[in-house]
Amino acid sequence: MLKVSNLNVYYHRVIQALRGVSFQVPEGKIVSLLGSNGAGKSTALNAISMILSFQNGEITEGKIEFNGSNTYGKSPHSLVKDGMAYVREGRKIFSDLTVNENLVAASFALNKPPKKNDFDQIYDLFKPLSSRRRETAGYLSGGEQQMLAFGRALIGNPSMILMDEPSLGLSPVMVEEIFSIISRINNKLNTTILLVEQNANLAFKFSDYVYIIESGKIVIEGNVEKLQNDTDVQEFYLGIGNESYKSFKDVKHYKRRKRWLS
Ligand SMILES: Nc1ncnc2c1ncn2[C@@H]1O[C@H](COP(=O)(O)OP(=O)(O)O)[C@@H](O)[C@H]1O
Ligand SMILES: [Mg+2]
Repeated sequence: MLKVSNLNVYYHRVIQALRGVSFQVPEGKIVSLLGSNGAGKSTALNAISMILSFQNGEITEGKIEFNGSNTYGKSPHSLVKDGMAYVREGRKIFSDLTVNENLVAASFALNKPPKKNDFDQIYDLFKPLSSRRRETAGYLSGGEQQMLAFGRALIGNPSMILMDEPSLGLSPVMVEEIFSIISRINNKLNTTILLVEQNANLAFKFSDYVYIIESGKIVIEGNVEKLQNDTDVQEFYLGIGNESYKSFKDVKHYKRRKRWLS
C-alpha cells in the first residue's frame, strides 16, 4: 500500500535528515519505524504526508508510492482524500474547540460530509470522549487528547494511518488503551498502519514488521519474531543483556559496538 524508495531529505538545504531510506507497508499490516530521538522518524512521516515544505524540508531524491501511484507533486489534503490519515506527534488538536467541534473540523478535509454514524463509531471506540463531547478539548487529559487526535484521523475512514509516537508522555494504562484501539482498528476495519515509536517493546508487541532507523538510515529490519531473537536487537533496543553480564563485576572491559553503524 505504501512504498518508500531511496528517500533523501534535507532541511534548510543543508541538514540531511534521511539517507537513502526504503521501506514498505503492505495492506492490512502494522509496520513500525523504531528509533531514538532525532533518528528521522517524524521526517519520514512528514515526507510521506507531503508536509515537509512547511518545515523547510525537501525531498531531494527517492520515490514514494501510495496505492501504486507516485505522490510526487500531490498536496497534503489530496492525500487525505485518497485515504491517508496522519496523527502527528504532540497531539495536534484545536484546544479552544470542543471535542465534537474538533471532529467536525477534521471532517472538512474530506470529500463528502461525514454521517452521524461516522461520529458514533469514533465515540464508540473512544469511550472517554463520548461523555465529554461538549467540553473544551484543551481541558482533556493527555490520553484523552491523544484519543481525540486519533479520532480526528479516523473520521474519514482512512485506508491507512500514519501514527507518530502515540505513547509519548502517557501513563502505562493509557498507552495500553491507545494500542489496543490501534490493534482493534487494524483487525476490524483492516486499516493499514505505519507506526513510529521510540518504545521498542510496544513496537514489537503490536507490529507485524519493524524497521529500525538511526541517524536517518534504516539499519535493521525484519518481522517481529526474527528481530526479537536477534542478540543485537535484544541488547541495544530491548535492554535484554547477555546472561554473563548479570554480575557487574564480570562485565567485560570493552564496550560492544553497533557494528552496523560503521
Ligand atoms: N524543521 C527542521 N529544521 C531543521 N532540522 C530539523 C527539522 N526537523 C527535524 N530536524 C532534524 O532532523 C533530524 C531528524 O528529526 P526527526 O525526524 O524529528 O526525528 P525523530 O522524529 O526520529 O525524533 C534531527 O537531527 C532534527 O534535529
Ligand atoms: Mg519525532
